[in-house]
Amino acid sequence: MSDVDAVPSPRTHQEAASIARFANDVQYYLKLQPRQLPSRYLYDALGSALFDAICLLPWYQITRAEMQLLAAHGRSILAHIPHLTTIVELGPGSGQKLATLVRAHRQRSLRLDLHLVDVSPSALALSSRTLSAAGDVRIVTHEASYEVGLAEVAREAHAGRTLVVLLGSNIGNFDLPGAHAFMRGIRSALASGDGLLIGADLVKSERELLLAYDDPLGVTAAFNRNLLLRIDRELGGDFDVTAFAHQAVWNETESRVEMHLVSLRRQRVRVAAAELDIVMEEGESIWTESSYKYQPADLVVMLEGAGFKLAEQWIDSQAAFALTLVEAV
Ligand SMILES: C[S@@+](CC[C@H](N)C(=O)[O-])C[C@H]1O[C@@H](n2cnc3c(N)ncnc32)[C@H](O)[C@@H]1O
Repeated sequence: MSDVDAVPSPRTHQEAASIARFANDVQYYLKLQPRQLPSRYLYDALGSALFDAICLLPWYQITRAEMQLLAAHGRSILAHIPHLTTIVELGPGSGQKLATLVRAHRQRSLRLDLHLVDVSPSALALSSRTLSAAGDVRIVTHEASYEVGLAEVAREAHAGRTLVVLLGSNIGNFDLPGAHAFMRGIRSALASGDGLLIGADLVKSERELLLAYDDPLGVTAAFNRNLLLRIDRELGGDFDVTAFAHQAVWNETESRVEMHLVSLRRQRVRVAAAELDIVMEEGESIWTESSYKYQPADLVVMLEGAGFKLAEQWIDSQAAFALTLVEAV
């Protein structure tokens, strides 16, 4: 069997285009120094399921803290945006958090349009099921990056106000210039009076941060190493997942937790569809994710700089997590 035969054939035009993008990115990012892979590729069907398992771990406090804030303040959040007709969630995952907001909206007479934007088809399927059971909603899914999905939504006319939600500290996967640009991009997709709700993890002790990203059960390690399995399966790679160790590092200077996959020996790796053939040294790593941690005031400064004004900020001080609601000016 040739290398090319080892790559499964895509079934649809959209699937072929996304495999080609994945192959291009793998070729580009694995040749950088340090070697990297964009974190959005962590979420194939198995990666999305492993992320949902991470949310249940006692060491990963983000999900519980944010769910509690949404349950406690859902009505206040909605009260800030009269005539709300549309909610756009960027990266909904399981959809459970948005379901909490939709349930808080139930007493109102207006039906909600929900736009779910996610790169993971399995996350879109699960969140659609969760949300259709939560209330009177019309669901539109966008299997796309945040930016592309948001542009698709912005092209449609919306009768009332729109709320964009970005939860689970998804903002933390952007470096700071990227996060600023992303906030400006969201602002330009909105009209004045529309809202943006952001959940962001805050700086806390190194011990808590490392337990959240390197848990004693090894679920986060499986989530990280699954990226190599995905490359093997979708792009005809020959990564040996047992030859890479998961590593989480707190980079205090940059205020981010980094996830890496560290090569346990000198090894050659080929990825057929990416026409890539590299040698990795023992100890050399592939940087797979950054999770930037914020101070509450820095979030507000960033959002104000992007053309929003603060409506309210709720903080879970035990878990060190902030939910910030801003209005487009
Ligand atoms: C960390 S999970 C959070 C899920 C959910 N918001 C929560 O709080 O539980 C990130 C979600 O965003 C999606 N995602 C990650 N990067 C993305 C990107 N660049 N564009 C669109 N979706 C992305 C993933 O597939 C996943 O469903």
